[in-house]
Amino acid sequence: MKIQLPRDVQHIIGVIEDAGYEAYAVGGCVRDALLNRTAADWDITTSAEPMEIKRLFHRTIDVGLKHGTVTVLLGKRSYEVTTYRIDGDYEDARHPKNVHFTRDIGEDLKRRDFTINAMAYNERTGLLDLFSGREDLKNGIVRAVGDPMERFSEDALRILRAFRFAAKLGFSVEESTAKYAGQMALNLKKISAERIREELTKIVSSEHPEVLRELYRQGISRIILPEFDRCMETEQRNPHHCLNVGEHTIEAMRQLPSAEPFIILRLTMLFHDMGKPECHTRDEKGIDHFHGHAKISAQIAERVLMRLKSDRRTMELVKILVTNHDRKPALTKKGVRRLMSELKEAFPLLFPVWRADMLAQSEYKREEKLSYIAEVERLYREIEEAKDPVSISDLKINGRDLMHELKIEPGPDMGSILNRLLDAVLSEPELNNRDSLLALAREWK
Ligand code: CTP
Repeated sequence: MKIQLPRDVQHIIGVIEDAGYEAYAVGGCVRDALLNRTAADWDITTSAEPMEIKRLFHRTIDVGLKHGTVTVLLGKRSYEVTTYRIDGDYEDARHPKNVHFTRDIGEDLKRRDFTINAMAYNERTGLLDLFSGREDLKNGIVRAVGDPMERFSEDALRILRAFRFAAKLGFSVEESTAKYAGQMALNLKKISAERIREELTKIVSSEHPEVLRELYRQGISRIILPEFDRCMETEQRNPHHCLNVGEHTIEAMRQLPSAEPFIILRLTMLFHDMGKPECHTRDEKGIDHFHGHAKISAQIAERVLMRLKSDRRTMELVKILVTNHDRKPALTKKGVRRLMSELKEAFPLLFPVWRADMLAQSEYKREEKLSYIAEVERLYREIEEAKDPVSISDLKINGRDLMHELKIEPGPDMGSILNRLLDAVLSEPELNNRDSLLALAREWK
């Protein structure tokens, strides 16, 4: 088994070995190398203690020193070199509260979370795989190292990490690992909102967002996102749907790409129907309705994203998109310009949202729905190409012109005139020239 270690990593391992100690690349980088994926960073584990590492390298940083980690700087890159350790309880994903060093790498590997993350490699020894991690990688399995209950009680975040790796790699979580993850899910209450958000976002924006279904089945979403459980338990008996709200949500997420810039869209789909359980009514014919659900869903999105301490921009964009995911502008340029003006930068994001939502529905009226979206998009492109005005800053006059030409003082009156002018040009973009706008403003003054 040969892994091509980056030159820096070979160098670091070589220097440590020349000083009479052991050193290996370890964890995520070995996993990723075996999967032919690019590793995010290369971590090194060693029998040498931090002070010895500091002596061996010129440029080092001490931030992780109390956890046994020395950051070694080579050129512009940095590498974490950590002494073999027997961990105490974790206080965050990577740093246990108290650690004891050991000279035995086996002791270090056996306290790591999953078999696929517990392999080490150097050129002298080759692959050190004490827990059949390679076999699990080959079979697509996330399995706790040793006793899952012990691994999860050391760090409850590992409960979500298990499913995050499954979602990222398209793996399944091994049965007893999944079972204990579920049994210990209540411990997630002790984990900070930021760390939960980070894992949940990674799952939602992964190649396999359907892993959410596993979180539901194992009773894990019940602890971190009970709103989703209600979706899984809400039927949709109407011609537009063939899935319950939760399954529709998963399918809608799957309809969107998974990479970084699409996180907002995936989150939008996660929340877009969360208000449905609250709005559910069934008519005398047995048909389900969810009147007003978009607004309630947006309120839930805001509440959940606040709870998860999400950033403001994400929260605002998701809220706008969820609120408007059901909006259907009239198929006229005027109708489309109005919605563009209202939603601003969020507007074009509605197209993928509409499509994902629709493709996760039943086939009922699909052609009609698709051509409606295509038509709105066509009108939008024409408006963009023509550079039609859709905001006050696009108007050919501004507040200063109103002040100089018409002696209108800055304040609410000026604001309302500018808004009326915008309204006029949304209907008739030809009016967007200095003379016409000043003439209109003069009438309204
Ligand atoms: N680790 C662990 N338990 C945790 C966190 C980390 O045992 N709660 C160990 C695992 O061996 C893991 C390594 O520390 O591989 C590095 O952790 P981290 O950088 O968080 O994850 P990676 O496995 O590198 O994966 P990724 O970078 O894709 O998140």
